[in-house]
Amino acid sequence: MQALPLHSQTVPAGSLEPALGLHLLRVVEAAALAAARTMGQGNPHAADQAAVEAMRAALAEAPLDGRIVIGEGERDQAPMLFIGERVGAYAAETEPRPPAPAPAEVDIAVDPLEGTNLCATGAPGAIAVMAASESGGLLHAPDCYMEKIIVGPECRGAVELDAPVERNLRAIARRLDRDIEDLVVVVLDRPRHQRLIAEIRATGARIRLITDGDLSAGIATALQGTAVHVVMGTGGAPEGVLTAAALRCLNGEILARLAPSDEPQRERIARMGIRHLQRIYHTADLAPGQQLVFAACGVTGGSLLRGVRFFRDGARTHALVMSSAQSLVRFTDSVHFDRRPASRVRFG
Ligand code: FBP
Repeated sequence: MQALPLHSQTVPAGSLEPALGLHLLRVVEAAALAAARTMGQGNPHAADQAAVEAMRAALAEAPLDGRIVIGEGERDQAPMLFIGERVGAYAAETEPRPPAPAPAEVDIAVDPLEGTNLCATGAPGAIAVMAASESGGLLHAPDCYMEKIIVGPECRGAVELDAPVERNLRAIARRLDRDIEDLVVVVLDRPRHQRLIAEIRATGARIRLITDGDLSAGIATALQGTAVHVVMGTGGAPEGVLTAAALRCLNGEILARLAPSDEPQRERIARMGIRHLQRIYHTADLAPGQQLVFAACGVTGGSLLRGVRFFRDGARTHALVMSSAQSLVRFTDSVHFDRRPASRVRFG
């Protein structure tokens, strides 16, 4: 079968969907497939490297002109997918641009492997993630910490970042029509959260302490059946922006504030021109785009997505692709063959 010419798949300027979602899906699947091969090898660096390389190679084939706004770090620390790097088939200027429509210029946020340690130890919940929007649609958040509270659609407007823990949990319980004891609060298991954990325990709410991965936990708050009702505490700011992009598609809410923990983080924030450290960001401040597209693919199986499963003739991936403008949430189950299958594809 002949491959479609690149320009026939081009993401046109002005209307990112439906074309962009499929390209993002291919990119996160490629990263997940590569990272999953390193599962349990005990080498987080190798796992991340595999995901980054695969994501970059897949992005180079995507018919768009992209700019990384959340990536692997600044140019001098990251050889690939660094902030400011232009990616996509039309970014390199080697590919002749199609006459019309012009290819879209998109801002891109990536986390090729969210949960590098989870992947390195074979623990559940590692995912490959990416979001894109029209130019200016994703906050250029510095790589520092961020205080967060994340809830699903029913609890929009019910919580405040600085409210006492008990007041927030009571408000969430009321909106979800359940007792506070029936809530599950996800918190990263870190010494910095000792006091927060004690305050949650005092309310009687249940807690799920996670070793990593507040991004997928944040998405889970907006999906029924995940048994996650709220995420509280301090995690990465880049993960906060990606969570916001996902929640714009799911109508959930994140409230957040930058929380630098050392001098290099404070310098990074200053370099980005952010003066008002106390500012509370709402979902639409972190991801203001009108045309947001979000994609994530499971690497190791978790409560949000199944992990990559390899078999003799190929591999199977489970992914989530969402679009804010199209109000679309799509779960995909894909079989990737390395060769013609010798037996029937397993159904379901
Ligand atoms: P990585 O995948 O980059 O390792 O991040 C995992 C993660 O747990 C995020 O989900 C979270 O926001 C952040 O790290 C927390 O940072 P720290 O491990 O420094 O507390």
